[in-house]
Amino acid sequence: PSRYAVFGHPIGHSLSPAIHQAFARQFGIALEYAAIDAAPAAFADAVRAFFADGGAGANVTLPHKAGALALADEASEAARRAGTANVLTPRPGGRLAAHNTDGAGLVRDLTERHRVDLRGHTALLLGAGGAARGVAWHLLDAGVDTLTIVNRSPAAADALADAIGEPARAHTRYWEDLADIGSFDLIVNATSAGVLGHALDLPFALAGARALCYDLSYGEAAAGFLAWARAAGARYAFDGLGMLVETAADAFELWHGVRPDTDPVYAELRARR
Ligand code: ATR
Repeated sequence: PSRYAVFGHPIGHSLSPAIHQAFARQFGIALEYAAIDAAPAAFADAVRAFFADGGAGANVTLPHKAGALALADEASEAARRAGTANVLTPRPGGRLAAHNTDGAGLVRDLTERHRVDLRGHTALLLGAGGAARGVAWHLLDAGVDTLTIVNRSPAAADALADAIGEPARAHTRYWEDLADIGSFDLIVNATSAGVLGHALDLPFALAGARALCYDLSYGEAAAGFLAWARAAGARYAFDGLGMLVETAADAFELWHGVRPDTDPVYAELRARR
């Protein structure tokens, strides 16, 4: 069978092997899908060895998403904009192509699974690192009215807004001003605070009565932000489990040429947590 893998550090709790195997069963496809732990210094060599040995495709997760784009020979627009990649696919001549499915996965989870029409929403993006860059353009493409980017270090937020280059729609504010910038229809937590075990101290006033709050992570890492959203009276508080399944579906389609049904896989993962 063809061999696939996800590279990360740590990687023990990755759901990607189970998700890809569940998709493969829908089509009777036999594949191997390994979880490979690679420390940052060993990442590039581990990836090259995997593909030299016949690997058919790789997913890449923290902390290697920027490294994955850096080692690729070609990149999709989504990966170039984000500055990161979560999918690596071999091309003829030993070349590697990088792609990023995070933004498309988020928007599909919001619009198709949760049936939210993002058009006209005022959106607040918390964070300006790799995860934030991975979703910013897609939120704009999905029709949000304005995207306000707020990051603890203002320079990264300014750099993201500059890269988007639509000052009338995408602009930045200071983290210190969060108490004074009113409320938003959509609040996306793209910081790594939860993953790092830190709490975000956010004013309740950010979440309007019809606010949709979304954390790009899931499980324990998302718990603090979602508890804040509920306490703030937000209408919806979603974690990123659906986004994870959608991003995996895009990689699966890229590699196998068929589109898996994500709903049963999402339901099974949701039931387990
Ligand atoms: P990722 O790939 O998860 O986006 P990253 O590129 O290291 O990881 O970005 C982490 C993001 O989380 C950054 O926007 C970071 O803010 P800084 O640029 O100021 O470092 C943000 N972040 C991490 N911990 C945070 C905290 N405790 N409070 C606020 N923002 C935090």
